Amino acid sequence: MDDTKGKNRGQPTPSRRAVRQKLESLVDAGVLDLPRRSGVASVVAAQTTRPEKSVGMVPANQRPAGPLPAVDPAEKLRLLEPLRAEVAGCRRCEELACARTQTVFGTGSPGARICFLGEAPGADEDASGIPFVGRAGQLLTKIIEACRLRREDVYILNVLKCRPPGNRPPTADEVANCRGFFERQLEIIGPEFICCLGTTAAQALLRSEEPIGRLRGRWFEHGDSQVICTYHPSYLLRNPAAKRHVWDDMKILMARMGVEL
Ligand code: URA
Repeated sequence: MDDTKGKNRGQPTPSRRAVRQKLESLVDAGVLDLPRRSGVASVVAAQTTRPEKSVGMVPANQRPAGPLPAVDPAEKLRLLEPLRAEVAGCRRCEELACARTQTVFGTGSPGARICFLGEAPGADEDASGIPFVGRAGQLLTKIIEACRLRREDVYILNVLKCRPPGNRPPTADEVANCRGFFERQLEIIGPEFICCLGTTAAQALLRSEEPIGRLRGRWFEHGDSQVICTYHPSYLLRNPAAKRHVWDDMKILMARMGVEL
């Protein structure tokens, strides 16, 4: 692969191994097409050289023109801490509170432009206290990276903060009990974009009863945030053919975020 011409001049050429690993990760994430202009080598180079630590996740030269939103991540972090403590002490859902190892609040940058909203912690998340760290989480990370974003620059949270026993779907009462928590988290972070992962997140945030198949790939609003919904990574583990739809949704999202593929 010739990285010495055009756009990638000056960037180190990634090793064949790095390119292969990146390709495998992109395929796992459901990426079916890469822009001819950039190719895998430049995607790898862009993701391994990272000259800039941005408040959002789009390098300055890829942001749409216009003023940056006023963000003070340190202040947002300060506001999130009492909420985290409140969540940790919550016993509104007695069954969940008795069964949990710990609550799972959220992870990532409080200054993120985008939040990914999932359903509820599973066993791995209950054990670690961090959302999306199990198999579904690893797939989510690949999807985020396929979008040329970094996991640490987005914010990841769930509707429920406790693991439902046996990973059963949350009940309506449990969602209602946790609504104040995820709504306040989102209000403090104030992301430009929210991506709902799966039925529970989409229906809870949008207060909708429509199935995810009808909600995905369309734009909605929640406060000042623009919302897009897609299939949950756990669903993709069971139905890999649906990854192509998620990739379609991510392309819609990236286009509006001004992230260049
Ligand atoms: N599924 C979710 O919805 N959230 C997690 O944190 C893990 C799996």
